[in-house]
Amino acid sequence: MKRRKVLYLICIGGLLLLIPGLFSIHDMPNEERRDREPITIEPDSRMLVALTFDDGPNPLYTLQVLDILYEHQALATFFISGKQIADHVCLLEQMVSDGHELANHTYHHYDLTTLSTDEIRREIQRTQEALEQVLPFYPLQYVRPPFGRYNDRLQEASHLPIVLWDIDSRDWELRDAEAIFSIVMEKVQDGSIIVFHDDNPYTVEALKRLVPELIQSGFQPVTLTQLFERHDHVRP
Ligand code: NI
Repeated sequence: MKRRKVLYLICIGGLLLLIPGLFSIHDMPNEERRDREPITIEPDSRMLVALTFDDGPNPLYTLQVLDILYEHQALATFFISGKQIADHVCLLEQMVSDGHELANHTYHHYDLTTLSTDEIRREIQRTQEALEQVLPFYPLQYVRPPFGRYNDRLQEASHLPIVLWDIDSRDWELRDAEAIFSIVMEKVQDGSIIVFHDDNPYTVEALKRLVPELIQSGFQPVTLTQLFERHDHVRP
């Protein structure tokens, strides 16, 4: 309890440093801690889907994504950028305490095909090390190369499985919640891994409809590890 209070004060302190007025009322930075039970999903005979979120944590949108997932009791996997870790400890702690999975999206978000094997190794290790500073004993299990671009040097540099996706929600280019919703609902099937970005309002808007719709259509939104336990064929 004591630790929570201290963390809470640090979070609020961080927010006060941000200049108000730069953001609209819906886009105010929000890194409050939510005091709530973890989401638990036991995969049963229903279809499974893995919602994955790249490039966060984001001070404007990640908590909104977490709240939507919580409301519908859906689990997800967050491919975090190492350079975002130190500034968004509250959000990372919320992801873990809600029951979501964290994974490695490298430190600087460089195109890995432009780097040497050693540089790639460093991009991955530095992310793990930054996370250990704030969440000790959390080994990231999967790596996703920025832009989905990689070559043999990534396989040499990392012992972690490389996880891409089979459905691109195209939220990074569409800027349209309705279109994001439609793309996913048209393509989703048992075992799908869907990529989103928790860094924009269109994804948040899309998820408000998409998460309950997926559940109503018979899907359980689970972590990658839960999905891989059943869908070995998509394991890289
Ligand atoms: Ni990315």
